[in-house]
Amino acid sequence: MAFHMNKIGIFFGTDSGTTRLMAKKMAKLLGDVAAKPLNVNRTTADEMLQYDALILGTPSYGVDQLPGKSTKIEDGSWEEFMPQLAGKDLSGKVIALYGLGDQEKYPDRFAHSLIHLYRWCVAGGATVIGQWPTDGYVFDQSPAVVDGQFCGLVLDQRSQSLLTDARLSAWVAAVKPALLAKLT
Ligand SMILES: Cc1cc2nc3c(=O)[nH]c(=O)nc-3n(C[C@H](O)[C@H](O)[C@H](O)COP(=O)(O)O)c2cc1C
Repeated sequence: MAFHMNKIGIFFGTDSGTTRLMAKKMAKLLGDVAAKPLNVNRTTADEMLQYDALILGTPSYGVDQLPGKSTKIEDGSWEEFMPQLAGKDLSGKVIALYGLGDQEKYPDRFAHSLIHLYRWCVAGGATVIGQWPTDGYVFDQSPAVVDGQFCGLVLDQRSQSLLTDARLSAWVAAVKPALLAKLT
């Protein structure tokens, strides 16, 4: 399994598939260095922790939480996966985060679930990269804003889908060098 270390691991949660589609687009932009994106409801903590360079993504559902069974994702998602990682040491890992949301419909808690991935990475001692400016988004409040920037790439396939491809390619270009630097 050691060959995994030579790739960038991409893991996502999803309900309706948008966050998976974004993972696939990222993998395509990264090319050979990207592992096949995996849904967190079909993988294990050990599988994820084999990678030192990671991209993790989540949609936003519920209020101030990660998506999972309590937000009506029947097969489970990050909510169920996260406890497997409790207490794991993430130091030495470089992690880029992305989150999906809908700023028109949820302007008061835009992309809120992303902050929970961020907090978990920081608590585990990982280096989080890929912070993203809030310019160009229209919302009232987002818990995913840390020190004036989103704590990862935020994509909105509901109200700003035309901006997605440009955001994706700019962000992937920005995070790629730091992720590649972790590959052996
Ligand atoms: C029931 C429901 C609740 C949602 N709640 C939020 C929310 O609180 N904040 C937000 O930014 N987006 C919210 N969204 C938008 C989704 O996060 C967005 O459509 C996302 O792209 C879905 O990703 P998925 O297809 O991977 O599940 C919600 C969508 C639905 C259907």
